[in-house]
Amino acid sequence: MEKLRSQNWFGKKGKDGFIYRAWMKNQGIPADMFDGRPVIGICNTWSELTPCNAHFRDLAESVKKGVLEAGGFPVEFPVMSLGETLIKPTAMLYRNLASMDVEESIRANPIDGVVLLCGCDKTTPSLIMGACSVDIPTLVISGGPMLKGHWRGKDIGTSDVWRFDEAHKLGEITDEEFVEAEACMARTQGHCAVMGTASTMATMVEALGLSLPNNAAIPAADVRRKVLSQLSGRRIVEMVKEDLKLSKILTREAFENSIMVNAAIGGSTNFVIHLLAIAGRIGVDLTIDDFDKYSQQIPLLGNLQPSGKFFMEDLYYAGGLPAIIKELKSVLHDDALTVNGKGIGENSEKAIVYDRNIVATMAEPFKPESGIAVLRGNLSPNGAVIKPSAATPALMKHRGKAVVFETIEDYHTRIEDPNLAIDETSIMVLKNVGPKGYPGMAEVGNMGIPKKLLEKGVHDMVRISDGRMSGTGFGTVVLHVSPEAADGGNIALVQNGDYISLDVENRTLNLEVSENELIERRKNWKPYDLKYNRGYVNLYINHVEQAHLGADMDFLKGGSGSIVTRDSH
Ligand code: FES
Repeated sequence: MEKLRSQNWFGKKGKDGFIYRAWMKNQGIPADMFDGRPVIGICNTWSELTPCNAHFRDLAESVKKGVLEAGGFPVEFPVMSLGETLIKPTAMLYRNLASMDVEESIRANPIDGVVLLCGCDKTTPSLIMGACSVDIPTLVISGGPMLKGHWRGKDIGTSDVWRFDEAHKLGEITDEEFVEAEACMARTQGHCAVMGTASTMATMVEALGLSLPNNAAIPAADVRRKVLSQLSGRRIVEMVKEDLKLSKILTREAFENSIMVNAAIGGSTNFVIHLLAIAGRIGVDLTIDDFDKYSQQIPLLGNLQPSGKFFMEDLYYAGGLPAIIKELKSVLHDDALTVNGKGIGENSEKAIVYDRNIVATMAEPFKPESGIAVLRGNLSPNGAVIKPSAATPALMKHRGKAVVFETIEDYHTRIEDPNLAIDETSIMVLKNVGPKGYPGMAEVGNMGIPKKLLEKGVHDMVRISDGRMSGTGFGTVVLHVSPEAADGGNIALVQNGDYISLDVENRTLNLEVSENELIERRKNWKPYDLKYNRGYVNLYINHVEQAHLGADMDFLKGGSGSIVTRDSH
């Protein structure tokens, strides 16, 4: 094993070495821990404000045991944690900031390998993005899903929040029942129990080869999650000795595998944005069109909410993600390297499907079409996305009149107005919720349907925006329209009553307004006043890229490696 980077601190002689070691020793660390053994950082997003990650101190202890068993020296450190449910205006606004924290924390410290502890939606991409820009041996452990909720004899999860809201609006459940359901849904530690964005990210991690097998689905409350953490602690020490860096695992093939697996499990649309951003950091040339291309022949194999019926816990009992990966054997890059030094195919060779109601075969899938469809036309010249498995088949080809909301506040003000001219054939258009416009690209794209239509039994309509949708959301929802309204995209020029045509089969999204008329409208268009003239948000607005590029900051693309050139003391 070559001299490790941590020895540039702990291996120094004289005053510098004294300073690097002496203060560490105030934690009760014996001298031999500094003898050149691998120093393993445990990058922890634990926070009581990120409830999905609130059990991570326990997982970190399991990782430490594993690191010590393998002869390494574990050091746990905190980074910015992003709790999806509490952070305003949206956790996505801070994904890039957290990634900067991770990148600089890893590079600046005497760390030879790092274990990333992530769970709630944005904590996963932010940690991986930051680590990619340093590129040392890295292993990811996800926090695991909650056990499924139970309410009044039924299994419930995050996707039911939207159903409860509609039922509550219609008076079908009372205020008391609504509050009662809260405690019944989130009843254990862990992240959202359905195939929302957190589970999608955990699946992405395993499909990319960044975790040990079965990382995606072991419930947070299951002690096997602790075992996985301990084994991961042992393995990262070996990875340092093998110099198995992120860039050796995150190849073009790994990204293609991840897109195919995401399609097979009906993963979140947020996957597109995060995977593009990760590819941008590690230097793999991935485009939005790759998501359509590589998910086209992949049917839905996982029967998981919101595209299907079951929960992550059920997937684990049915064979876990390796069972899905094994079904995809004929299309995946089998030999793509993973953190345990084996190919992804070899890791899933022994997987067994225990329940065909949850994991289907390629020959008899749950739905023939899955994945992400990328739509282009004069309304989305750089692309927009839709998740066919969560949409209504009858609406996948639809022409209707636009009902336009200039901002999310405008939507809230007018959506329940009895005089709002809207019916089930209308297309709802929401502007200024994109990366710059919100700012931070809020998860508001699956706008609630007005009560007067719910009462008529309408539960889905075509909705279009430059924002995102929660991974637990569903419906015929077109998202990530690029360029966004705040960047002068044609979506900014849509007016009430304009006809819009959506054709998912042919991948088109068009505003039926002539080019001349659009030129006229553009003369009167003024960008929405964002009113942020200082601090991080100002930096974000001025540097965030559009959704079709992954919404990373332009100056964060690529990496700076792990070498620190200046040395003080
Ligand atoms: Fe944290 Fe859903 S809110 S994973």
